[in-house]
Amino acid sequence: MASDIDLFDPATQESWFPTYRRLHAEAPVFQIPGTTTYVVSRYADVMHVLRHQDVFPSGTGLTNRHAGAVQVYQDRGWDRIAPLSVNPPEHREYRKLVDHFFDATGSALYAETIQAVIDELIDSFLDDGQADFMQAFALPLPVRMITRLLGFPDEDIDRLKAWSTAWVLPFSGGLTDEQQVWVAEQVVEFQTYIQERLDEKRLTPGDDVLSKLSVARYNDERPLTDPEIISIIDHLYIGGNETTTFALASAVWILLREPGLYERVRDDRSLVVPFLEESMRLESPTQGLYRRVARDTELAGVALPEGATVHIRYGAANRDGDMFPDPDNVDLERPNMLRHVAFSLGEHRCPGEGLSRLEQRMALNTILDRLPGLRLSADNDFTHAPGFVLRALNRLNVAWTPST
Ligand code: HEM
Repeated sequence: MASDIDLFDPATQESWFPTYRRLHAEAPVFQIPGTTTYVVSRYADVMHVLRHQDVFPSGTGLTNRHAGAVQVYQDRGWDRIAPLSVNPPEHREYRKLVDHFFDATGSALYAETIQAVIDELIDSFLDDGQADFMQAFALPLPVRMITRLLGFPDEDIDRLKAWSTAWVLPFSGGLTDEQQVWVAEQVVEFQTYIQERLDEKRLTPGDDVLSKLSVARYNDERPLTDPEIISIIDHLYIGGNETTTFALASAVWILLREPGLYERVRDDRSLVVPFLEESMRLESPTQGLYRRVARDTELAGVALPEGATVHIRYGAANRDGDMFPDPDNVDLERPNMLRHVAFSLGEHRCPGEGLSRLEQRMALNTILDRLPGLRLSADNDFTHAPGFVLRALNRLNVAWTPST
């Protein structure tokens, strides 16, 4: 049973959902063959891992602790202390410094800027009557927002985007030694860039997160060190773009592919929020992330040895029929829709969920207002980028009826 499941097969990754059904039924805690990594797929087990931070702390997985990469950080950059990836109590102190920027209240302060960027983007392609939604909108919106909010100039976006693509590569595993070192070199360039901007902000502070962190105090005791600030900022930058891009693209895909859904949501805007929650449940941009096993334990009858890695599969938990009946379909009246774990839960719950939800909500409302007759173009293949952790459509061609 389950021995033929291959999570790295491109066909599995193209459509995870039949495999998730098999994992739920046959191997809810599935050891990836040849590794000490265990994939946890049922909602209840995922919650167990997230709630037992002492047994399953953060801080391992397939991220970049490759010896050659560590050497690059030590020689040329800053060793990656990753304040947002450590464990309590330190983690809680760092999160206190960050959460208020992007929670629902903090994000609301950016609403005007978000709307301006949305309109600027739509103006640029409105008259064309068609676009690759991914490139024209879903990608630039969150990137421009997080770039501005953190305090970087728009003209650096191409460089920042290249660094953030490199940053997430190790999460999918399977990199060669050369690639690991290359990633580290890219991250060091990013770190150096942030350090330079930080030095500038100290001379001329702005109304941005980098300027505010430059004067923030850890536990009210001391200023943050430069390496702490650099690590927090690079983590926020990465978190702040790709995932919301994928969420936006999947939302529009689902909206247009399900018969009658577009008209329903367009005509009743109170459905925008439930629709977006269902969309993140169904197509969770972050399908899974890692935890360490701190001491010998057991989960769903499977022994997990100290030092093993647990892969929490948010995307599979969100399709667990025991938690979400009829799990593969959109249900705008689903009573427990907010219990999806696309943003995780517990200590490491995504600090950017307020910002992402606001961007998605404002984007969808504006799209429904400004792109009449929105539909999928005939030339889509709806394929996804291969990958273990992130779920991303390659492109999404849409058309609408431009007003004459
Ligand atoms: C749809 C959009 C997003 C999704 C699906 C998403 C998903 C996630 C998930 C699942 C985690 C949990 C990690 C864990 O349990 O270990 C996480 C953490 C994180 N996210 Fe997001 N995220 C999104 C948007 C954002 C945005 C907009 C930002 C920045 C403003 C952000 C920044 C972060 C950071 C810094 C962490 C690490 C937090 C910690 O470990 O304490 N994310 N995100």
